[in-house]
Amino acid sequence: MSDQSPLTALIVGSGGREHTLAHACLNSPLVNRVIAAPGNPGIGQDCECVNVAADDVDALVALAENENVDLVVVGPEVPLCLGLVDKLEEKGILAYGPKADGARFEGSKTYTKELLLKYSIPTGAAAYFDDAQAAVEYLQTASFPIVVKADGLAAGKGVIIAEDFETARDTVTNMIDGGAFGSSGERVLIEECLFGEETSIHAIVSGKDYVILPTSQDHKQVFEGDKGPNTGGMGAYSPADLIDSAMMERIEREIVKPSVDGIAAEGIDFRGTLFIGLMMTASGPKVLEYNTRFGDPETQVLITRLKTDPVEIMLAAAKGELSQIDVQVKDEYAMVVVLASNGYPNSYPKGETITFPDSTGPGEHIFHAGTTNGDNGSVVTNGGRVLGVTALGADLKEASDKAYALCDKIDFASKYLRRDIGAKELKRS
Ligand code: AMP
Ligand code: GLY
Repeated sequence: MSDQSPLTALIVGSGGREHTLAHACLNSPLVNRVIAAPGNPGIGQDCECVNVAADDVDALVALAENENVDLVVVGPEVPLCLGLVDKLEEKGILAYGPKADGARFEGSKTYTKELLLKYSIPTGAAAYFDDAQAAVEYLQTASFPIVVKADGLAAGKGVIIAEDFETARDTVTNMIDGGAFGSSGERVLIEECLFGEETSIHAIVSGKDYVILPTSQDHKQVFEGDKGPNTGGMGAYSPADLIDSAMMERIEREIVKPSVDGIAAEGIDFRGTLFIGLMMTASGPKVLEYNTRFGDPETQVLITRLKTDPVEIMLAAAKGELSQIDVQVKDEYAMVVVLASNGYPNSYPKGETITFPDSTGPGEHIFHAGTTNGDNGSVVTNGGRVLGVTALGADLKEASDKAYALCDKIDFASKYLRRDIGAKELKRS
């Protein structure tokens, strides 16, 4: 793509994923200006942050037009589901991320389940209901535990694993009739409970073309030993050797390719990230969900490990030229440890001053997530997941040692982290 004059890129979002993507744009020879909306103080150290919310679609389109943006990289799912990319396309502005028809696979769990079943992609058996009484009748003959999911977006909170009939009954009633998740819970998916180790695959898709990014594994539960409530993710590493090359071939054959082909066969020109959540069951990998954006904190390790310029890949996907791209990956391992505010994912304090080390070593990054500017040039906590402390190493142990050493050089009053990110993998290796 040497014929390209340097681009202005706009990153939409304000988390660790977006800081990582902004950093990739800054380091790309294809880009000479990076704007973020709304961004965060970490992004603001090197890029222009504009105070436009990530879900204010009209204001984002106006910003992209006024600033002559050449490529919009959309981080979170909400603007995708709201049709940001459709509106940018109407104005002739290139964007990385699916249009609303593609983002619907993240926005509706029943829509995804229908696609999975139609194209015989391995997934748990399920039924869905708009009527609480019918759902309760179905539960009367079900076996437990069973999984109840709000159909729509619920910020990662709409999935309940019900151990018994009473819990499942109360959950579906609260969702459908009680407005527990607003309109997202008016329809519920009741799904067979799958058992195994969870992992995920990130594919960059452009129509019928796709490239599979390196493997990674997130740690969703808040406490060590995978205990406690689910969070957005407390840390991740890459590669995840749980998926060896034979398993990867199987996942590509049984899941990734049929997913991409199925989406295209539905008439959807999907250009963006297809992030497939998997359960590695005794009978093979099964799809838990599709997300239609990069994972957070998976992005922090995946993008950091790419040898190929991530902007080149995203640009090619957005233009429909992905078949020309060969994705090269570094041999190094990467780990990200999330520094959270104690109390997350429930209530937690905000506004605590963060102290940072004066410098970071090679291959080390402190990606900001829930931070904001405080008084006198300070940076203070402003969210549950505050920072993503990321390091590369020759092996997982080295990446882990470096990431944790860097975590110990950062402080704020309610700092909380899991000390066992990657521990299962380290034991296996
Ligand atoms: P989802 O948003 O569909 O990925 O669900 C959130 C989390 O709930 C997943 O990461 C799993 O830990 C769990 N989960 C979802 N579906 C199932 C299932 N069918 N069986 C067991 N656990 C599940
Ligand atoms: N880390 C999980 C997610 O981004 O959904």
